[in-house]
This record gives sequence, C-alpha cells and structure tokens, in this order.
Amino acid sequence: MSAFAHETLRQRADYTHKFNAETGRHGWLRLTPAYSVKIVDELMGTYRKPMRILDPFCGTATTALSAACHGHMGVTTDINPFLVWLGRAKTAKYPKATIASTRETCDRVTEAVKREDAESVQPPPIHNIERWWSPAALDFLCRLRAAIEAECSENSPERDLLLVAFCRTLIELSNAAFDHQSMSFRDDRQLHLPLGIDPVHVFEEDAKFVLAGAAENPEGTGHVVLGDSRKLQEAITGPYDLVITSPPYANRMSYIRELRPYMYWLGFLGSGRDAGELDWLAIGGTWGVATSRLIDWERPREPLRNALLDEALDRIAHHDNRNGKILANYVAKYFDDMWAHFNSLVSVLHEGSKVHYIVGNSTFYGVLLPVEKLYAAMLDRLGFERIRCRAIRKRNSKKELFEFIVSALWTARKR
Ligand SMILES: C[S@@+](CC[C@H](N)C(=O)[O-])C[C@H]1O[C@@H](n2cnc3c(N)ncnc32)[C@H](O)[C@@H]1O
Repeated sequence: MSAFAHETLRQRADYTHKFNAETGRHGWLRLTPAYSVKIVDELMGTYRKPMRILDPFCGTATTALSAACHGHMGVTTDINPFLVWLGRAKTAKYPKATIASTRETCDRVTEAVKREDAESVQPPPIHNIERWWSPAALDFLCRLRAAIEAECSENSPERDLLLVAFCRTLIELSNAAFDHQSMSFRDDRQLHLPLGIDPVHVFEEDAKFVLAGAAENPEGTGHVVLGDSRKLQEAITGPYDLVITSPPYANRMSYIRELRPYMYWLGFLGSGRDAGELDWLAIGGTWGVATSRLIDWERPREPLRNALLDEALDRIAHHDNRNGKILANYVAKYFDDMWAHFNSLVSVLHEGSKVHYIVGNSTFYGVLLPVEKLYAAMLDRLGFERIRCRAIRKRNSKKELFEFIVSALWTARKR
C-alpha cells in the first residue's frame, strides 16, 4: 500500500472494541485492546463447512466466541487465568434452566445485599483503592461480592454469570475513565455514590444484560485453554484450518494493568508483586517487576536476526535516549518472543492453513518500528507463502500509527 493510501485511512471505531459493546456476549466486559468482532467475522468469511479456528492470544475471547457463533470450533489460549475464566464463561452453553436459576439467585443476592446485617468481604488489596471507589461504592461492592459467594455454589454457571455482572458493576461504580487508549481516573472523583444512582439497580441491570447474552447460545463450540503461545504444542492439539488473532502490540501496554480491578476483586491477583510476575510472563509486558527485569535481560543465544530490527534497536538504544537501552531490550524481547510463538505455531497447522494477525506498528523516540513488516519477515523465514500486509485503520492522531492485518498461507514447502 502506498504512503498516500495509508494517510487516507480513518480511525474506524467499528474496527475497535467499541463495536462489541452492544453485540451480546461480546459486550460483557470491555478490554481496550480487544479487537472488533466485525474484523473477525469478515476474516472468517462465509465458509459452510465447520472449521477449526485458533486464536493463540485469547484476550476477551472475541475470536473463539465468534467462531462458535458461526458454527465452527474455536480454540484459544491465553497466559492470563482471569481471561481464561472470562473466555470460558463467554463461550459456554447455558440451558434455559440455568438462565432461570441464575435469575432466581440474582434476586436472592440483591435481597441479601439490602439487609442491614448483610455479610461483607474485605476490600481487595488493590493499591490506592480510594482512588477507585468512593467509600459508599466500596461498601456496596464488598456486600455484593459476599452475597454472590454465599448464594452460589463453587464453579457453578450461576456464579460465573453473576460474577461477570459484578465486574460490569464494579467498573460502573468506579472513578475509572476509559476515554484514552488505556484506563485512567476521572478528575471529579466522588466521595459518595452520585445522586440518583441505586447500586442495586445497577447490578440488576448488569445481570439482565449478561443473561440476555447467555440465553443466545452459540451453535458451535469454544474451548479456552490456559497456555503459553510460545509453546502451543504443550497446550493444544492441532491442526487448525484458520488462525485469527491479535497479539500484544509492541507498545508497552499492560493487560494486567487494565484488568487489575477485575483480577483483584475475583481473587486472581493478591499483590502488586503477583501482577508484575504475571506481566513478565506475558509477551510485551513491562509492569512493575517486569520493567526492572528488562534492565539485565539478555537476548537468547539464537535471537531473531533481521536487518530492519537491528537498525531500529540501535537507534532506540542510542545514548541520547534516556532509558533507550531498556526500551531496546523491551523491543528485542518482544520480537524474540513473537519469533518463538511463530515457530511453535507451525506445529499446529496443516498444509493450506491460513493465518491473520491484527497488529499495530509503534514508535520509540521517533523511531518507527515496522511491526507488520517484521511479522511478514518472520512468516517468510518459516516458509509461509502469499504473505500480505494490509493497513486497515489509523490508530490515533499520530500520523504514522496504523493497524494492519498480516495474512499468510502455510504450505511448509521451504522448511
Ligand atoms: C491484544 S490482546 C488480545 C485481544 C483479543 N483479540 C480480544 O479481542 O480481546 C493480547 C492477549 O495476549 C495475551 N498474551 C500475552 N502473552 C501471551 C503468551 N505468552 N501466551 C498466551 N497469551 C498471551 C494477553 O494476556 C492478552 O490477553
């Protein structure tokens, strides 16, 4: 695509997570880096034969759910146990009886919360919790969380559905604002619940929304597996016909940071240390301890070798750039990890499998990192054919940042 064609691309909200909000189960919880189900549906096409579709970077399970809704088998992996729990809840089948029993349980939960002597859990150990919730909202959430636990049996679908509704409510009652690419706090922080807001009603509406999505059961199946996309063969069994995915971008965005309110409230995180450890496991993670580890990190003995990458790394590491060395390490580790991922991917493909990677480019100190070209180079090195990079949207106001679909066909001929 010419530079001019790039410039005429729009930001296209329909190709972002914003499109998912009103799309049934896809709208249950927001994750800013989630992609739009519209992109996935377009890439899936209108194949009649059921396919085996893989997403090695599950996130909020957009691909697996969309695959299941079109009658295919969607399989997806993620390194984050909270997202695996959410993906399983989103792709499960809920019989009518479960929907009815969840409604009844929801009524019992709201009755229990309204009682004067309602049980309460301890607030989660999230740093600076008072920035997140007013004392009144926090008190309500602690009672609601206790009531859900008391009224639902462990690992039951009723509990999963009500916890998804709880996650929606905790964000609605928070001071978090999502008008940037990542989460921030509103300036007008409240000490009380805003006038006219009945938190019980907020939760009831959230439960209604979740149950409406749950009642729409997908025709196909979704399987969500806890696993590392650098070692896919250890987590899943191929072969897959089609891969549609969006890996972490090389832009230092931390999924743990975005997800921490849910993860603390649901017990998937117990401390800041846990958060940093999990981010270190994730590709592209740099939060907390993950950043300090990058200082001493050294490239593996057989790193990805690529002239474009080497040139970008040298320019980023330049001594004029404060933190240039650590950011060069970040970028190098990101591509070494993605190289490990692509190497493991081929073990779960068959001749003729198609892959589509949705990814954005990045800049560091004004150095443009052509992520899409580097993906294309890695796929080429492994023996993929018909490799194509197509820019699909502008990412934000920075004129050089775009989102691409990198597509290829696995033929295994060059190997
Ligand atoms: C851009 S998000 C995917 C968003 C997803 N397409 C959606 O619509 O929600 C990338 C995901 O990759 C996951 N991830 C990072 N490193 C991973 C690894 N080594 N193995 C598996 N998943 C990983 C992150 O936890 C995150 O959920």
